[in-house]
Amino acid sequence: MSHSNFELETLNPADGASFQQVLEARLSRRQVLHGAAALTVLGLLPAGGCATAGRGAGALGFTGIAASAEDTVRVPPGYTATVVYAWGDPVGHASGSPAFRQDGGNTADEQALQAGMHHDGIHYFPLPYGSGNSTRGLLAMNHEYTDDGLLHSDGFANWSAEKVRKSQNAHGAGVIEIELRDGRWTVVRPSKYARRVTARTPMRISGPAAGAPAMRTQADPGGRQALGTFNDCAHGHTPWGTYLACEENWDAYFVNAGTLTADHRRNGIRPKGRGYRWEEFDERFDAGKHPNEPHRFGWVVEFDPYDPQSTPVKRTALGRFSHEGACPAVAADGRLVMYLGDDRAFEYIYKFVSRDRVNPGDRTANRDLLDHGTLYVAKFHEDGGGEWVALAHGQGKLTAENGFADQADVLIRTRAAADALGATRMDRPEWIAVHPRTQEVYCTLTNNSGRGSQRTPGLNAANPRPNNVFGHIIRWREAGNDPASLKFRWDVFVYAGDPRHPEEGKRGNIKGDAFGSPDGLWFDDSGLLWIQTDVSASTQNRGHYERIGNNQMLCADIRSGEIRRFLTGPRGCEVTGVVMTPDARTMFVNIQHPGESPRGRSDPAHPKAVSSWPDGASGGRPRSATLVIRRNDGGVIGA
Ligand code: FEO
Ligand code: CA
Ligand code: CA
Ligand code: CA
Repeated sequence: MSHSNFELETLNPADGASFQQVLEARLSRRQVLHGAAALTVLGLLPAGGCATAGRGAGALGFTGIAASAEDTVRVPPGYTATVVYAWGDPVGHASGSPAFRQDGGNTADEQALQAGMHHDGIHYFPLPYGSGNSTRGLLAMNHEYTDDGLLHSDGFANWSAEKVRKSQNAHGAGVIEIELRDGRWTVVRPSKYARRVTARTPMRISGPAAGAPAMRTQADPGGRQALGTFNDCAHGHTPWGTYLACEENWDAYFVNAGTLTADHRRNGIRPKGRGYRWEEFDERFDAGKHPNEPHRFGWVVEFDPYDPQSTPVKRTALGRFSHEGACPAVAADGRLVMYLGDDRAFEYIYKFVSRDRVNPGDRTANRDLLDHGTLYVAKFHEDGGGEWVALAHGQGKLTAENGFADQADVLIRTRAAADALGATRMDRPEWIAVHPRTQEVYCTLTNNSGRGSQRTPGLNAANPRPNNVFGHIIRWREAGNDPASLKFRWDVFVYAGDPRHPEEGKRGNIKGDAFGSPDGLWFDDSGLLWIQTDVSASTQNRGHYERIGNNQMLCADIRSGEIRRFLTGPRGCEVTGVVMTPDARTMFVNIQHPGESPRGRSDPAHPKAVSSWPDGASGGRPRSATLVIRRNDGGVIGA
């Protein structure tokens, strides 16, 4: 989601100005004012840290491109980007393939058989399962949210149960089958794998919080069956070939005009709605009447793209917050680690370590692996060290005396538990990526204009920039290079910014092309780091971002630190979601919300006011879409 400043109203209330914080703020501000050189020094690791990362492949082999404010997709010379799957395109269900109506006139039932809106995280699963097939596979992806000004031909006018149902059917995730034939990728229709998961799909709740009193509702007295998933942002996947949808800004769909509970407040639910209007025809979104319904969102949802009949499962062991994504790593002893960001200003970075080892030979043996394990939250120390603190009931402050009844309570109120443990408040953790060989971990901290303000001081070494409008990318190396370790060393890989910015503190220290608000982040198998940006529509090409252009994707050589611009998106879009086929000769990238207006919602009378991508002047409204990117000579992408 493009986050504008209103998000800052849901600040972590633990953000007080202790003496220690003020001291830190002063120290860090002084370093920032000394400019990029000081920032680099601040981020330096001791010998043996990140500086030794990534030998071998991973050099940039393409010609960087200029920033662009045009309404088109640009890629380097020698590359071609084409649209393969846009909002409203049929998924390929055997039961029907309704064509997209350019006037927004598709029904709710038709939308359930079509691509959802606002493509986000994406993963490629080869066909058949276990193969390394690079010419036929499944793409699973999230459809994060909707612009109802584009979704319906008359927008919010004549609001109805049918419109709510269409909006819910445009959310969630989906699976398509795709095939490379005669040099061209196409969606296979019909396909037995075609699937949409929506805000109405029945799901199972599992793990320690399943069945807890706080999970029970009138419609589900057992607290084990939820209806749907929505606002799924970056994604995740597992070594056993399942997909993870991660529920991010779920709070925006609830209203509570009555008494907000402490949990509602901590998670940002408000008395008034924020534009989805589901509660008007689907009462469970009125959290005043159904205070426990919000407890059933904010989870990571696992489903099997190879089995369209499988029931998605909400894995409560991974905690409840504004999940951005879930990045897997395998511990030295074979347990699974999932790195998790909570994308809200001043929130935390987490990791989950499974109790059991992954069984690589039998995928069904891993079916409940994500139900058992320990959730940790990160503390970034001032000296470049760090530690993971367990969110385990009975340990530290997470006791009944401190108001935490049991482990279910700790997991449902993850943020409150992390507050109690004194975790480090970050500048909006977005995607996390693990280097394929060194296991070094990188995390985008997209921006936080509230950092260092009078209301919210709280500068710290890992988030040292006041009014951090450009964001940074932090990285860490776990002790012994083992993702399950409880100690790490960290530094800042790059402070984003504009080297020509008049304010020294906003210039950043990028070696290469300027960018800001890093969000999507992914390592390819060669060790190239792909960075995608999400500058909010209200900020693009103006103010601090005057010279940065439309949202874009860049590529970093982490050994030299060079960052080069690879793709620029159309007007008003966000670039989010990237993956390649195993042979690295095809890349899939999602373009989200082209045409988004600075106000966030489009005017249905002028749907093309900002963009007409991808269908152009003769088409209808702008549409989120999946791009296929290939080298014209068929070579490896980026090399
Ligand atoms: Fe949906 Fe954190 O971006
Ligand atoms: Ca997004
Ligand atoms: Ca994001
Ligand atoms: Ca974002």
